[in-house]
Amino acid sequence: MSQLSTRHLLGIKDLTSADIQLILETAENFKEVINRPIKKVPSLRDITIANIFFENSTRTRLSFELAEKRLSADVVNFSSSNSSVKKGETLVDTVNNILSMKVDMVVMRHSSPGAPHFLARNVKANIVNAGDGTHEHPTQALLDAFSMREKLGDLQGKKVAIIGDILHSRVALSNIFCLQKLGAEVMVCGPITLLPKHIESLGVKVELDVRKALAWCDVANVLRIQLERQQIKYFPSLREYSLYYGINKKMLEELDKEIVVMHPGPINRGVELSSDVADSDHAIILQQVENGVAVRMAVLYLLAGVRA
Ligand code: CP
Repeated sequence: MSQLSTRHLLGIKDLTSADIQLILETAENFKEVINRPIKKVPSLRDITIANIFFENSTRTRLSFELAEKRLSADVVNFSSSNSSVKKGETLVDTVNNILSMKVDMVVMRHSSPGAPHFLARNVKANIVNAGDGTHEHPTQALLDAFSMREKLGDLQGKKVAIIGDILHSRVALSNIFCLQKLGAEVMVCGPITLLPKHIESLGVKVELDVRKALAWCDVANVLRIQLERQQIKYFPSLREYSLYYGINKKMLEELDKEIVVMHPGPINRGVELSSDVADSDHAIILQQVENGVAVRMAVLYLLAGVRA
């Protein structure tokens, strides 16, 4: 297979296992490209991409922009804070105005779950979801899977524990779909108040004790406490969360095995991870960020082959 089954990347839920394999294999080639002295290829020379971000981002926004530039696409960036959205323009009108300037693809981050799906139904462009509220963050899951494969090989039968604020996390849902499609076993772990009701119906194991989760897994993908999405208190204090769910070096040393520690960023140092774990050889957090550029190059390159 050399083409994706879809012309948008809205979520991992919509991708086939073959789509994911194709993206990861294509990303391997692009990883080689971005490590050359000249990190640029002409693949998307005739394509213009708009990055429209309605929510804060460091990694995803810069990673997409670098991926686009390394593929020689023309790039425009739009953020809601200084745009006419503030004057009451609808999302569809805003994007149609951008598209009328001969833009071919839109990469969008939005706080509303389903916003990219709505856009895909209502405008003529390839849409890439760069994170929609608490729903999905497909390119994060793809770069996480790429980074795990780099470290552990084939993910069939590998055990991945996703630890932390599962309730508010788009990374968790995309990771669950992606890892299961690649044959991995998935566990979620966190305080009961931060686990969605009926999460086990997705076919994941559920564990409340972080030490047991660490003892079970090959990979611990640790998530941030998303205070900005929490309107009520889900645990008494950050200090208490850190005491019961924070991962420190002593906990890893007590394990009778090596595990890989991942985090999508941004990290709350001293809350979900201590600095001596975040900066240790167990952690592949900066490799994840490096791989994000190659994976996003692969996504954009493959979507350009199935134009809207
Ligand atoms: N991992 C991630 O999405 O980071 P940003 O919010 O900085 O893009």
